[in-house]
Amino acid sequence: MAPSFCGVWDYPSNSYRNRGFELKLLVTGGAGFIGSNFIRYVLAQHRRYSIRNLDKLTYSGNLHTLRDVAKNRRHTFVRGDIGDRRKVQEVLKGVDAVVHFAAESHVDRSILDSTAFVKTNVLGTQCLLDAARQAGVKRFVLVGTDEVYGSAPSGEKFTEETLLAPNSPYAASKAGADLLARAYFRTYRFPVIITRCTNNYGPYQYPEKFIPLIITRAVQGENVPVYGDGLQVRDWIHVMDHCAGLDAALHKGREGEIYNLGAGNEWPNLAIARRILQLIGKPESLLTYVQDRPGHDRRYALNSDKACKELLWAPQITLEDGLKQTVDWYLSNGEWIRRVTARAYRSYYRRQYDRRDSMLAEVLNRRGKR
Ligand code: NAD
Ligand code: DAU
Repeated sequence: MAPSFCGVWDYPSNSYRNRGFELKLLVTGGAGFIGSNFIRYVLAQHRRYSIRNLDKLTYSGNLHTLRDVAKNRRHTFVRGDIGDRRKVQEVLKGVDAVVHFAAESHVDRSILDSTAFVKTNVLGTQCLLDAARQAGVKRFVLVGTDEVYGSAPSGEKFTEETLLAPNSPYAASKAGADLLARAYFRTYRFPVIITRCTNNYGPYQYPEKFIPLIITRAVQGENVPVYGDGLQVRDWIHVMDHCAGLDAALHKGREGEIYNLGAGNEWPNLAIARRILQLIGKPESLLTYVQDRPGHDRRYALNSDKACKELLWAPQITLEDGLKQTVDWYLSNGEWIRRVTARAYRSYYRRQYDRRDSMLAEVLNRRGKR
C-alpha cells in the first residue's frame, strides 16, 4: 500500500533526477524490523536500485527476517558491525547513499545496561558518518526517533524545533547519534537528513516490543504485562508508512534538515492491548499490571506538517487496518516467531518480567549508589 507520491521522481540533485537511475544504497540494520521492511519497500518501488545490507545480527537481527529477499540479486547481505571501521569502509565502496537503521532499539534493555547503546548508537554512528564522508556518499539518512524529545505535555505536539530532552539511556544515545549527524552537516556540509519517527508496528517486529509482545503472548493464553496504569500514550505508525516517509526523505529531503514522521494515531497502551485481545478473541483477564518502567515517558506526539509539506508524505494505513493486518501476520508466521523467541528471548523475558519488582529495585539501587 504505497502512497501515490512514490511515483513522483522529484529529486533534489541532478545525480538523482533520472527515473531509471541505478542507485547503490547501503542500509545498516537491515536484518531488523524496520530495516528489513525498508529493504522490501525499496526493492519493490525502485526496480534499478541495489542494496548492500550491513547488519551485526544481534539478538534482534535475524536472517529469517530476510528469507524472502535472500535470493534477490539486488540485495547483498554483509554481516558486520557499524563500529568496525575497516568493514564499514569496505562496504561503502561504490555506495551512493546510506540509510542508517542499525541500533540497539529497546528502552527496557537500555535501563538494564546502556553500554551497548552508547557503543552502537553513538560510537557506531560516528564511525559510519566518518567513513561515509570519506567515501563521498551523496546522501545519508539517519533514522531517528521521537523519543529524543522526551515526554509530550498534554495538548502539545513536538516540532523539529523542540529542544531535545531524552529520558531513557536509549533515547539519550539516539539523541547523541542525531546531534552528531546534525553536526556533520553544520561542520563538514556532509549531506545528512535526519528523520524522527513515532512508534512503529507491523510484521517482523521482535516480540520484546509492546504490540508483538501482546500478540505472541495472548495467542498462547499467557498474561500480557502492562506497565503502571497503562494510560501512557503512543502515536502508532505502520512500518510501511514509515518506510514511505524514509524513501521520501531520501529523495526529496533537504540536506541538513530534520523531518518528524508521525501518524496522529495517539492511543493509550491499555486501549491498544484491549483491541488486540479482541482481534485474537482472548479475554481481558490476560492483562496484568506490573511495575512501571523507570523514567517512563507519558506521551509521544509529533507535528509532522513539515514532512507532509516538503516530502509530500502522509501515512496511508489506518490503525484499525494496520493492527488487523499485523495480528494476521503474526498468526500466520508461527515459524518466524518460534525462531526468534528461542532460548535467549525466553531468558530475557524472565529477567525483565519475573520478579520485576526486585529486579528494578536492584537496578535503581545500583544507580543510586554510584
Ligand atoms: P531492531 O532492534 O528491530 O533492529 C536493529 C537492527 O540493527 C538489528 O538487525 C541488529 O542486528 C542491527 N544492529 C544492532 N547493532 C548493530 C551494529 N553495531 N552494527 C550493525 N548492525 C547492528 O530495531 P528497529 O525497531 O527496526 O529500529 C531500527 C531503527 O529505527 C533504530 O535506529 C531505531 O532507533 C529507529 N526507530 C525505531 C522505531 C520503532 O518504533 N521501532 C521508531 C523510530 C525510530
Ligand atoms: O517512539 C519511538 C520508539 O518507540 C522507538 O525509538 C523505540 O525503538 C521503540 O522501541 C519504541 O519505544 P517505546 O518504549 O515506546 O516502545 P515499547 O514497545 O517498548 O513500549 C510501548 C509502550 O508500551 C510504552 O509506553 C511501554 C509500554 N509497555 C511496553 C512493554 C514492552 C508495556 O506496558 N508493557 C510491556 O511489556
